[in-house]
Amino acid sequence: MLRGKKILLGVSGGIAAYKIPLLVRLLKKEGMEVRVVMTPSAKEFVTPQTLAVLSEYPVWTDFFSGGYVWNNHVHLGEWADLMVVAPATANTIAKMAHGICDNLLLTVYYSARCPVMVFPAMDLEMYAHPTVKETINRLKEKHVTVVPAESGPLASGLTGEGRMPEPEAIFRKIITKLACGGPMEGKKVLVNAGPTHEPIDPVRYIGNQSSGKMGLAIAEAFALKGAQVTLVSGPVTLIPKTENIHIIKTQTALQMRDAMLSAFTDADITVCTAAVADFRPSKPSENKIKKSEKGTFSLELALNPDILEELGKMKKKDQVLVGFALETQNELEYGMEKLKRKNADFMVVNRAVQEGGCVFGSDWNEATIISKDGKNITFGRLLKEELAMKISDIVQDYLK
Ligand code: C5P
Repeated sequence: MLRGKKILLGVSGGIAAYKIPLLVRLLKKEGMEVRVVMTPSAKEFVTPQTLAVLSEYPVWTDFFSGGYVWNNHVHLGEWADLMVVAPATANTIAKMAHGICDNLLLTVYYSARCPVMVFPAMDLEMYAHPTVKETINRLKEKHVTVVPAESGPLASGLTGEGRMPEPEAIFRKIITKLACGGPMEGKKVLVNAGPTHEPIDPVRYIGNQSSGKMGLAIAEAFALKGAQVTLVSGPVTLIPKTENIHIIKTQTALQMRDAMLSAFTDADITVCTAAVADFRPSKPSENKIKKSEKGTFSLELALNPDILEELGKMKKKDQVLVGFALETQNELEYGMEKLKRKNADFMVVNRAVQEGGCVFGSDWNEATIISKDGKNITFGRLLKEELAMKISDIVQDYLK
């Protein structure tokens, strides 16, 4: 989904330009194509050479040097899926707002046919200046997305509003913008992910080694297609690439069940990837349990609710429900049995132990997706992100 996306990065002359090489790396890591144009003063803060090496492409800073052909600005403007100006100085913002076109970055901006995002960065008094505010508003009226500067320590030594967000935050804004208008826009997707922790006492629990990576990848695959995603996570830290994923944190199976049941009615598509603990201690101790001298210790367990099965009972005709099943043998037979029992539309069956070790925590997965009409597709060893995209494609086709 992100591979091959074309990002045109305009860098103007502010100290925040030092963050741009890291941004280029993050974009390139996703397989995106990046072209960089700089204003002449931006070269004082980061070298074109650095950005050329990281973007794997020549960087242009003026019309008449470095192999630049004067009408390339038109091609660059047509080429890009998204133009990002970061950092955007007060000077560059003012010129963008008022039709001034005295450098290459501006020429490219005026030729661009794609959406444009701007990340202002300047000292706090400049950022608060009424004229700067006016020009920012003028740019917004021209349908440019202006991402507000953050508050924090500034290069001047002062603290206040004017700081450009960190590269990771800019990256997330870019990805979110690229997802806008995708094929799943308007769809609501609900995903659960990770393990659950079932308390034995205040400091101990029963859990499993699920990392939540598969669920995060599923949430991202739908979010990248423009869907609004709710991700109900067990006790793991999941940091999505996009901002259109709302995370609800839970610890236990009962908490996860409550969160899933209340979000389910609104969801068009629900994918249950969580490794929910089947049992929980029936009476968790209020105090830390002392070591017994007897050498043995018994714990009474109660059966946890099966969230997927409950959702299957609530499911309406226009809702799609996908489950995951972890098996060690007879994958297809057991997967089909679970699909029927839990009233799912699809069941993704994966093997607990695969090439390279346990599927929990791995970046890879080997799976078969079984649909309720009995068809199945087996995928070879894929990155969880790739598998998630394929699953989202199948669900998307099913909805057509
Ligand atoms: O029956 P089994 O646990 O193998 O089924 C796996 C599927 O059921 C997964 O989609 C998992 O998220 C879901 N599940 C659940 N609640 C449980 C156990 C499993 O929702 N208590």
